[in-house]
Amino acid sequence: MIKTRFTEMFGIKHPIVQGGMQWVGRAELVAAVAEAGGLGFITALTQPSPEHLTREIARCRERTDRPFGVNLTFLPSISPPPYAEYRQAIIESGVPVVETAGANPAEHVAEFRDRGVKVIHKATSVRHARKAELLGVDAVSIDGFECAGHPGEDDVAGLVLIPAAAEQLRIPVIASGGIADARGPVAALALGAEAVNMGTRFLCTVESPIHDAIKHRIVANGECDTELIFRTFGNTARVARNAISRRVIEIERAGGTFADVRDLVSGQRGRRVYENGDGDIGIWTAGQVQGLIRDVPTVAELIERIVREAVALVGERLTSIAGNGAP
Ligand SMILES: Cc1cc2nc3c(=O)[nH]c(=O)nc-3n(C[C@H](O)[C@H](O)[C@H](O)COP(=O)(O)O)c2cc1C
Repeated sequence: MIKTRFTEMFGIKHPIVQGGMQWVGRAELVAAVAEAGGLGFITALTQPSPEHLTREIARCRERTDRPFGVNLTFLPSISPPPYAEYRQAIIESGVPVVETAGANPAEHVAEFRDRGVKVIHKATSVRHARKAELLGVDAVSIDGFECAGHPGEDDVAGLVLIPAAAEQLRIPVIASGGIADARGPVAALALGAEAVNMGTRFLCTVESPIHDAIKHRIVANGECDTELIFRTFGNTARVARNAISRRVIEIERAGGTFADVRDLVSGQRGRRVYENGDGDIGIWTAGQVQGLIRDVPTVAELIERIVREAVALVGERLTSIAGNGAP
C-alpha cells in the first residue's frame, strides 16, 4: 500500500491516475482503472455532445461503484465546443472530480468547486501550476517535457519540473510524463509528488479501446520514436513518429502554416488510426515512455505490478543502497 495525501483526498487505493486521452478515455478503460484502485478520467471531448458525455458517465457507473472523474481539455479552436454545457453535464452527473487541461481553467474552477466537484488542473510549468493553486484547485498534475500530448513550450523535463513544482506548491502534485513501471512512482515520490499520472502506458493495456496493431506498435517503439509537431505554431504536441508526423514537420520547416497541415492532422484521421490499426494514416499521441513499454497487460495486472514492485524497490534496492543509515 502506498498512502499519500492524494489517495486520502480522492478516496482511492493507489496513487495512480489515468489522465484524459482523446478517443481513448472511455467507460471501459476508466472503469477498469477504478476497479483496480486507481483514478481514471473519461475524456469529455471524445463525446460529441454533453448528452453523450452524460451517457458515457452512466456506462462507466454500470461497470464500477468506485470513484472516477472526467477530463475537460480547453483547446485553442476557431469554433470551441460548448464548454459551459460540458461543465454542467459533469456537475449534474455527480462525478467527484474533474481534470482540467489546456488553457487557464479560471472560468470553470469556482463553479465546479461550489458544486462539490474537486478539480485537478494539468499544467506544464511551475508558474501555471501556481496560478491554478491560487484559483483554488485541489491538486495539480505536472506534465514534464517527455510526456505524450502537449508538453508546453518551456521544454523542462520531469526530473526538474516535478521537484520545482513540489517545492513551490502547497496542494498535492501529481507527476506526469514518462512513467510506465514501478521506477516512475518511486522516483516521483522521492521528487515530492504524491501520485503519478500515466497516459501512454494505459493506452497500451487490454482494456484500452484501440486497435491491437497500435498497442503492438507502441511495444515495438523505442524512446526516440516520438516527434514534436506544431512547434512553429507555439502549440507543441508530442506524437508517435510516423509518415504523417514527418510530413507535418517538413511542412513546418518549409514555413507552412496551420492551413497547410490541417487535413493531415485532422482528429478524424487520428481516430481512424485507433479504429483501423493503421499507424501511418494520421497523427496519434504517444510519449517517450514507449521505450519502457514491453507488454499489453490488463489494467488490473499493470496497477498491481506497479504497486508490488514499487514497494519492493523501496524495501529492497533502495534500503540496501542506503545501508543501515550510517553515513
Ligand atoms: C492517446 C493520448 C491522448 C491524450 N489526450 C489528452 C487529452 O485529450 N487531454 C489531456 O489533458 N491530455 C491528453 N493526453 C495526455 C495524458 O493525459 C497524460 O498527461 C500524458 O499521456 C502523460 O504522459 P505519458 O504518456 O508519458 O504518460 C493524451 C495522451 C495520450 C497518450
